[in-house]
Amino acid sequence: MAAIFLLLALLLLSERSLSVPICEAEKYVSALGDGGMRNRNTRIALEAWNFCNEVGSEAPTMGSPRLADCADLSCPILAEDLDQRLGSKCEVYHWVNDTDNKLAAGDKFPVSGFTSYRDPDLFASEKERYLGSLCKVQDNEEEPWFFWMIMLKNGNFDKNSTLCPENGKKVGKIVTGRNFPCFGQGCMNQPLVYHNYSRLIADENGTMHLTGGFNGTYDLDGKGAGKTSFFSVSWKKNVQSGSWVFSNTLTTSTKYPWLMLYIRADAAEGFNGGYHYNGRGMMRKLPESPNFKVKLTLDVKLGGGPNSQFYLIDIGSCWKNNGHPCDGEVLTDVTRYSEMIINPATTSWCRPDNLVSCPPYHTSASGEIIHRNETSRFPYSAYHLYCSPGNAQHLERPYDICDPYSNPQAQELIQILPHREWSVHGYPEKQGDGWIGDSRSWELDVGALSSRLYFYQDPGSKPAKRVWTSINVGTEIYVSNRQETAEWTVSDFDVLVPEQKAISS
Ligand SMILES: *[C@@H]1O[C@H](CO)[C@@H](O)[C@H](O)[C@H]1NC(C)=O
Ligand SMILES: *[C@@H]1O[C@H](CO)[C@@H](O)[C@H](O)[C@H]1NC(C)=O
Ligand SMILES: *[C@@H]1O[C@H](CO)[C@@H](O)[C@H](O)[C@H]1NC(C)=O
Ligand SMILES: *[C@@H]1O[C@H](CO)[C@@H](O)[C@H](O)[C@H]1NC(C)=O
Ligand SMILES: *[C@@H]1O[C@H](CO)[C@@H](O)[C@H](O)[C@H]1NC(C)=O
Ligand SMILES: *[C@@H]1O[C@H](CO)[C@@H](O)[C@H](O)[C@H]1NC(C)=O
Repeated sequence: MAAIFLLLALLLLSERSLSVPICEAEKYVSALGDGGMRNRNTRIALEAWNFCNEVGSEAPTMGSPRLADCADLSCPILAEDLDQRLGSKCEVYHWVNDTDNKLAAGDKFPVSGFTSYRDPDLFASEKERYLGSLCKVQDNEEEPWFFWMIMLKNGNFDKNSTLCPENGKKVGKIVTGRNFPCFGQGCMNQPLVYHNYSRLIADENGTMHLTGGFNGTYDLDGKGAGKTSFFSVSWKKNVQSGSWVFSNTLTTSTKYPWLMLYIRADAAEGFNGGYHYNGRGMMRKLPESPNFKVKLTLDVKLGGGPNSQFYLIDIGSCWKNNGHPCDGEVLTDVTRYSEMIINPATTSWCRPDNLVSCPPYHTSASGEIIHRNETSRFPYSAYHLYCSPGNAQHLERPYDICDPYSNPQAQELIQILPHREWSVHGYPEKQGDGWIGDSRSWELDVGALSSRLYFYQDPGSKPAKRVWTSINVGTEIYVSNRQETAEWTVSDFDVLVPEQKAISS
């Protein structure tokens, strides 16, 4: 009993010290290379993941599932400033060509400095770094940045395969009572991807812009229409605001009932949420709780059915249970995610009669700690679910362990719902806010909110620095028994951090 009290006291202390008030006078700057999506050039990559955020095996003729569209728009000065009809003289320069995008495991890279791994998982990570080297942007003296990352993930899991570790541990045979979708051998395949390289289009006044897209399907025998799975991401400029508008579609099928499609602002270099390799991304400064904000415009046109966990937004990071930052050692690294799900069909699994799905305690905006068993005060409806990392040693009962297979390492997940507890930070207040027909431009105080969330740490350990390496928006259409489609656009995406406190990635 004494041990539990001590643990609670330590947790109370550590949480309090995190809720430092924000100094409003501080100047915020964009942490992104393409802040607000205003760049005239494209820096966009696509990555596809299997159930445990790896490749497993490549889809036939597709190469390694890492692609990029990095195009510069170049127009004669005169055309831009004086006579816009001269826009026809504009040119597109592509930094990444089809040979690069088709590189497959074992292929030699066109330049030195990259290893041609035969292992498709290792190759994909190397290819991401190679594509990054082609797309890299370095303005003045500032840190380099690379691309927006479009992430596609197939939730099928073949328990007969040994492709995925268990809480980071290699296992010879998967023994679990958990059920996962899988239609049979090969269900964890990578998608077919088609790429419209960015090309010129003129707006009504003859000013030139770029537009392009990726689409595809997981059904290797399908054509991407009818009863097959489908995804599409295309980009064009909102000529009024100057922002890119990313239009997204995701359709599940009987064979692929669980799919995810996000646009991610990842750390420019280093690990990013859910991925244990050195990646390439857009955030040249890493946001740290409690001082950062996220801006974006989100227009949900089709929801994707009752199981579509639409995230406004998903933040991902990694730290060990002792509070140390992750180092790629998958047995002790723990991916930490927090997501607000805005689909109003999503219910609260965290309830007074189901404390197992609640975090041990809630921290109010004023810093007050409310234990989940205080049924008259705990805001159950502010939470969808909470689950604990599978490698935690001192969990408070009752607890649920997060799925041990769907990440390369153990994970912890805290999923929240629109609620007055969170709307003080600019988040949706009630179910339906920001949903279909309610397109909005959000300014989310993600830093303040994320500093209030419960994350597990070993008793007595120094609280982890909550530095976030991935900020994502999109949907996870969770196992659906019928074909579902989600459709949405994202624009004006930005991550703002205090000018001085910015930590280089
Ligand atoms: C594609 O670009 C690579 C270098 O980035 C170059 O080596 C290769 O020749 C190019 N391929 C084509 C078909 O242009
Ligand atoms: C896994 O193996 C079992 C037993 O051999 C078999 O019945 C089942 O169909 C297999 N599952 C897949 C996805 O291949
Ligand atoms: C085109 O030019 C007109 C007149 O200058 C202006 O009102 C309009 O906003 C412009 N449209 C775009 C897309 O820039
Ligand atoms: C490519 O562009 C054409 C014409 O706009 C469109 O029909 C098609 O869906 C696009 N494909 C992709 C992969 O974006
Ligand atoms: C996907 O893109 C391909 C290639 O551009 C195009 O032919 C096809 O129509 C697109 N599919 C859909 C469903 O938009
Ligand atoms: C609530 O949980 C805390 C921490 O486990 C415990 O100390 C307390 O006794 C519990 N209260 C009730 C009423 O069960």
